[in-house]
Amino acid sequence: MQNESLTETQSAFGREVYEGLSAFPKYLSSKYFYDATGDKLFQDIMAMPEYYLTDAEFAIFTEHKSHIAELFIADESPFSLFELGAGDGKKTKILLNELVKKKAAFDYRPIDISQNALDSLSDSIQKEIPDVEVNPIQGTYFDTLKDINAATEKRKVILFLGSNIGNLLHPQAIDFLKNLRDSIHPEDSIFMGFDQKKNPQTILDAYNDAKGITAAFNKNILHRINKELGGNFDVDQFLHWEVYDPESGTAKSYLVSKSAQEVRIESLDLEIRLRPWETIHTEISQKYDDEVVNWLAEQADLKISTSFTDKDALYKNYVLKK
Ligand code: AVJ
Repeated sequence: MQNESLTETQSAFGREVYEGLSAFPKYLSSKYFYDATGDKLFQDIMAMPEYYLTDAEFAIFTEHKSHIAELFIADESPFSLFELGAGDGKKTKILLNELVKKKAAFDYRPIDISQNALDSLSDSIQKEIPDVEVNPIQGTYFDTLKDINAATEKRKVILFLGSNIGNLLHPQAIDFLKNLRDSIHPEDSIFMGFDQKKNPQTILDAYNDAKGITAAFNKNILHRINKELGGNFDVDQFLHWEVYDPESGTAKSYLVSKSAQEVRIESLDLEIRLRPWETIHTEISQKYDDEVVNWLAEQADLKISTSFTDKDALYKNYVLKK
């Protein structure tokens, strides 16, 4: 089972790499950033001063934990707290502690593609907050959303933090929200983080840090192609480049080829050429304001019941209901 899904993931990776590198303009999907090296680099990103998102969401949780926990507890009926893309759970633990303190009747169901991440998350919660019942689910968001729907008759609260939705263009984000909507009942809630529009320089700095951690993160996808698909990318021949369009609120990451290059990817039997300064688009990190979040929710037939922000209004968490 484990192996089967591994191969499946790997061949999806191969297929998408083939498609993206054969297209014009070239692209690769940021969902493939996250192998063991990518996970570690993302941890480093979250710890860097320029990457304000993590600190801002942490501050929101710290400041508003009591109010948020009360919202989750609602009518005191038992609930399952799902988290899509749980990661290291640093922020979630604030809420778990608060829920335990308030004697909430709940279990925690982190969902992550990485069994490794789930294991260490479960271990650390077991140690730090032993009163929490953890039921991890390994899989991708979409597959597991169906399971969420079927899995439990209990009330559901679904966390989707870190502005992970920002990797989706608006039409995909709407599809995602519609999917979520179809997985919940009227008494359920979705609690989501949306990074906010702000001084464009602050955003550029967050995605183009001085130490080059984000550059390494972006380039890791090429290392991954080399390792897993038998590619021969000369990674140093690429430049990490970030742009932010303050009108659309879209930050985009590119890998820019510094020279004419030929690359072979053995397992795909694919040879590609890059002209000097040709681009590979790798990621979008969408920024939002209330108007856009309202519009997205409306398109998905969801309602915003309340929201929380940090003192500088860098970031916002919204509660969405059917
Ligand atoms: C995890 C998707 C929210 O887009 O801000 C961080 C990933 N990319 N630095 C983001 C990321 C470059 C991050 N998300």
